[in-house]
Amino acid sequence: MNLSWGLPADMLSRVFKRSMAGPFAWFDQLGFKKTSKSTTQSKTGIVYLVGAGPGDAELLTVKAVRLLQKADVVLYDWLVSDDILGLLPNKTERLFVGKRAGKHSMQQQVICDLLCEKALEGKTVVRLKGGDPAIFGRLGEECKALELQGIPFAVVPGVTAASGMSAYTGVPLTDRRCSRSVRFITAQFSRPELEPDWSSMSPKEGDPSLETLVFYMGLSRVSLICQRLIEHGLSADTPAMLVDQATTAEQTTLIRTLKDLPYAAECADFKGPALLVVGEVVGVKHAVDLSLLSTDGCYV
Ligand SMILES: C[S@@+](CC[C@H](N)C(=O)[O-])C[C@H]1O[C@@H](n2cnc3c(N)ncnc32)[C@H](O)[C@@H]1O
Repeated sequence: MNLSWGLPADMLSRVFKRSMAGPFAWFDQLGFKKTSKSTTQSKTGIVYLVGAGPGDAELLTVKAVRLLQKADVVLYDWLVSDDILGLLPNKTERLFVGKRAGKHSMQQQVICDLLCEKALEGKTVVRLKGGDPAIFGRLGEECKALELQGIPFAVVPGVTAASGMSAYTGVPLTDRRCSRSVRFITAQFSRPELEPDWSSMSPKEGDPSLETLVFYMGLSRVSLICQRLIEHGLSADTPAMLVDQATTAEQTTLIRTLKDLPYAAECADFKGPALLVVGEVVGVKHAVDLSLLSTDGCYV
């Protein structure tokens, strides 16, 4: 199997022989040109909408790191970790446009306007979003705003929280023995009409496998979600897991059944961000050794 990803052999060996000085000490050795100058000659700048992953800075893509090095300005959310911001050159302008459920510090329209304004000044802009920008990330609104202004842009995917959580807890998102699909669901349903179709989440007749359900933004609705799932046919004994701050040094995991999780979650008093995972996959949790992922100065 060729695992060179098209990189020259000497560059690859430099990547893998990286020093332990820090999670991205190896980046300097790659030879990517660091510059704050825009790569286009046109007056209008460019925008990269980049996924930052769920927290551990080493889960950034190589492309994301390269773009962060050359950005003139970075607009970032509350989910972007300090380790990731630490990768920015000193001269990069940083704008916090944090949005946290229930604590919006900036309206989406203001963020879109700011993004366009910086690009129209001719700057290379990185809009850095937690996880993957296309999953519950308001990517659509920002792409639309850029399209309307005729600003060139591109999207760089990131590791979504569910994938990071899966790797760092040892709970697979699917397992052919008990889960043949996975569903990512937003728990942002402040009004009853926004609630998902609960009945579609119960097991189908003749198919004993249960879909894995991953609820994003559900920390304040754990009780309601568990109650609805039981009301709509899931066994009260279905395994359920709440994971706080996945992939970070503060990662905490709580495993119970659907009927017991709400009370345990109340007592645990998690800070968030958190994911709620429901399904038999929680029962096949593997004993991953997180110390194997550790690097100096990095998460975990
Ligand atoms: C607005 S959504 C953004 C999701 C993001 N685009 C992604 O792909 O992960 C924010 C929610 O993602 C989840 N989340 C993000 N980072 C997380 C982490 N490190 N641990 C647990 N959940 C996380 C939480 O449910 C949080 O409320």
